[in-house]
Amino acid sequence: MYRSHNCGELRISDIGKEVTLSGWVQKGRDLGGLTFVDVRDRYGITQLVFNMDENADLCSKARKLGREFVIQAHGIVRERSSKNNQRATGDIEIEVQTLDILNSALVPPFTIEDQTDGGDDLRMKYRYLDIRRTPVQSNLIFRSKLAIETRKYLDSQGFIEIETPFLIKSTPEGARDFVVPSRLNPHQFYALPQSPQTFKQILMVAGMDKYFQIVKCFRDEDLRADRQPEFTQIDCEMAFVHIEDILNTFEGLTKYLFKHTLNRELPDFPRMSYDDALKFYGSDKPDLRFDMKFIELNDLAKGHDFSVFDSAELIAGICVKGAAEKYSNKDLKDLTEWVQRPQIGAKGLVYVKYQEDGSIKSTIGKFYSDDVLKNWATSLGIEKGDMLLILSGEQEKTRKQLGELRLEMGRKEGLMVQGDFKPLWVIDFPLLEWDEESNRFFAMHHPFTSPKKEDIPKMMNGDHQTMKNLKADAYDLVINGVEIGGGSIRIHDRDLQSKNFDLLGFTKEEAEHQFGFLLGAFEYGAPPHGGIAFGFDRLCAVMNGQSSIRDFIAFPKNNQGRDMMIDAPSTIHASQLDELRLSLTYKDL
Ligand code: AMO
Repeated sequence: MYRSHNCGELRISDIGKEVTLSGWVQKGRDLGGLTFVDVRDRYGITQLVFNMDENADLCSKARKLGREFVIQAHGIVRERSSKNNQRATGDIEIEVQTLDILNSALVPPFTIEDQTDGGDDLRMKYRYLDIRRTPVQSNLIFRSKLAIETRKYLDSQGFIEIETPFLIKSTPEGARDFVVPSRLNPHQFYALPQSPQTFKQILMVAGMDKYFQIVKCFRDEDLRADRQPEFTQIDCEMAFVHIEDILNTFEGLTKYLFKHTLNRELPDFPRMSYDDALKFYGSDKPDLRFDMKFIELNDLAKGHDFSVFDSAELIAGICVKGAAEKYSNKDLKDLTEWVQRPQIGAKGLVYVKYQEDGSIKSTIGKFYSDDVLKNWATSLGIEKGDMLLILSGEQEKTRKQLGELRLEMGRKEGLMVQGDFKPLWVIDFPLLEWDEESNRFFAMHHPFTSPKKEDIPKMMNGDHQTMKNLKADAYDLVINGVEIGGGSIRIHDRDLQSKNFDLLGFTKEEAEHQFGFLLGAFEYGAPPHGGIAFGFDRLCAVMNGQSSIRDFIAFPKNNQGRDMMIDAPSTIHASQLDELRLSLTYKDL
């Protein structure tokens, strides 16, 4: 028997028991007569004590233990004289009678503690050591719990879990495909799924109403803190549903998960149209933990001979409560430089400070008298002590820039409070997005998304301009400014689907080649259907107040898409290339 107890479970009530523990050496302390060794496993840490006077050999053996040695210790549980109330086992220690070294260990390249000195790549290279650290372990345990609770809820709602294949044909979700060559079909390739989208729709045609899957998806796209090339979705689809049915079901899932993992009750989720999200927050995923809603100033600010504003399509601002006296000229200069960075791209920043003493400080005093600016305050509900920050220019760009500034001010003002959760449904997305550069439409969600019912005739018969204004039955779940999930009601009519492919620039032959199976299935009794997918890794991170999904994934990739531990991707042997008939391609390069 390697252990009678784990390293996290012994308490004062166990005093006097004879126990055996196994685990890793966290650290040792040598106090002359006494040697202490902390032994750790995933359940906790227990202190072992060795007494020089009572057993010198054993004590010398303990002194030689290195960090991360794997040991087994047998002894008696004793009450500690100096207790450690930071630790669940801090009232007791084990007076060791026998000690076995099960395995030695090299000195780890970084400290295995909550705060480590290891850089990202080093931690990923030695991920097995990194996972020994409590924060990473807790994240993985949380992830496991979240997956189990997801299954419980969806099962209780009558969903069935069905696996779909990984070796498929491209499913476009807006990223590039990872492809896999087929040995048995030379010069042909599978694509790894960007999502199981087409399969889940086929399952609805097959009558498997209420499908779900916790599933890996693969997307070859630029990586960021919240994006990995392989990530996990809670993927769902339902038949005979309207938007309302889906929003209710998955609002229910989200509330259930918060309740059963964090013990948090979420209120009903507000809904906001895509247009309003952009108009008031400059983003289709607004962070509603704080207000700072955009104030449009065109009516008030134009016509005062300030050419910057007079020539702008949009003049809009945010009111930062109680900030007038807080931000020095230097702070505002820094903020101006911040909005002027190429990543944001604003031309300049205008501020109006409504000082506590009633006076006004502003960059536009030359054009607007104090009385005019005070009138703004009255009509906009701005109070003494507040600061108005204003950007102007082309509408779409200005909204985006002000959205970034709003988030920056939210950060600076400490308004993104840890543990505060503000979920939101963003609805009524446009169906298509026109791309000036490539002169073509892209699907805003994906090509299988249905236009709103009232827009179907317009879609079938309208002109180019009409297509730009079509609205989709599509929705996103946003929590604290992060897109957690997205979905839509699907097209289930062959002609409408063909029209959509046509608008997206597919020729009839291309559409048939890529999606003939789906178009074909639509001719055999496709029910109305719709669904959603949650980004599972993102949900884990947001629920834990973290912005990076990496530490919720056991073996993540770095920003270059590399697995640092197994060193992938890597070259393959020439014989493997020959077998796949790829060597020619390589030689041609
Ligand atoms: P979508 O493309 O919006 O929809 O993806 C759903 C959710 O998956 C998460 N996500 C990612 N998470 C980590 N790394 C990535 N690279 C990544 N890409 C996406 C996001 C996103 O909201 N088939 C549709 C769903 C549907 O229509 O039912 C789909 O995949 O949280």
